[in-house]
Amino acid sequence: MPDPNDSAPAMPSGVDTEKPSAARMYDWYLGGTQNWAVDREFGKKVVQLWPHVREVAKQNRRFLRRAVTAALDAGIRQFVDLGSGVPTVGNVHEIVREHLPAGERATVVYVDYEPVAVAHATLILEQDEATDWATIVQEDLRAPKKIFDHAETKRLIDLDQPVCLLLIAVLHFVGGDDRPEELLERYRRRVAPGSWLALTHIACEEADEEDQAAVRRFADAYRDTSNPLWVRERDELAPWFGDWSLVEPGITHLPDWRPDYELTVAESTARPFAWCGVARKPGD
Ligand SMILES: C[S@@+](CC[C@H](N)C(=O)[O-])C[C@H]1O[C@@H](n2cnc3c(N)ncnc32)[C@H](O)[C@@H]1O
Repeated sequence: MPDPNDSAPAMPSGVDTEKPSAARMYDWYLGGTQNWAVDREFGKKVVQLWPHVREVAKQNRRFLRRAVTAALDAGIRQFVDLGSGVPTVGNVHEIVREHLPAGERATVVYVDYEPVAVAHATLILEQDEATDWATIVQEDLRAPKKIFDHAETKRLIDLDQPVCLLLIAVLHFVGGDDRPEELLERYRRRVAPGSWLALTHIACEEADEEDQAAVRRFADAYRDTSNPLWVRERDELAPWFGDWSLVEPGITHLPDWRPDYELTVAESTARPFAWCGVARKPGD
């Protein structure tokens, strides 16, 4: 049987297949098919540099699920998923549909600037007959005003009601020149009291020296892609939550945030390579 990863998906307009893209490589790490030879070749190279990357990607998706279900349990019914990626297993609208009791409704706005992510999300939302309550906006998350002013965001998100902002495995693509602290402040300011902010970010300061060097080499390799990548420490991320209150258990490694499964020994070796946290906007 042909390996599905050896085939190229249909090409949406605007796709650059000359350079590997973070969205399509991440899809490949997770075993998806929305990637091209250039992404797979580069992906294989970086997996050699840093073999933990695929496990970290899986733990990241599991965290996303736990954060979304926690937000739903807390009564939040609106989600803006910034840098949502090529849809893969356990997308936010699927988690919402699975978790909400029948008859209850929540809305989801995906945002990504990668054409493959947008084309694939559009297709999945149509197939799932979810377009009444979920959509995708093709936009750069460094332009929050454009995102909030977009007709689709306005159709589905009421900014007077709490929103869960998801910035999952994407802020490491925002460099210092783009002032992530100010960017996050602009997002936090626009949303209503009671809103949540959930984020994850690649890290390595608690890994051993050899692994730290591997992560640095991995990050350096991304400099040759459409999405250069920055590794940051916990103390650099903490201010991004501003004056919002971190919900329990605070900023942790991915598998330590409200775990609902036990890590195998092999899985636990990937623990130090990302931070995650969820915070709530005061008031309401
Ligand atoms: C590693 S994937 C993460 C996907 C998903 N959030 C997850 O964690 O499973 C990062 C995604 O962020 C997108 N991305 C990176 N920088 C972005 C930006 N400035 N604006 C919008 N999307 C961006 C990429 O195209 C890619 O789809």
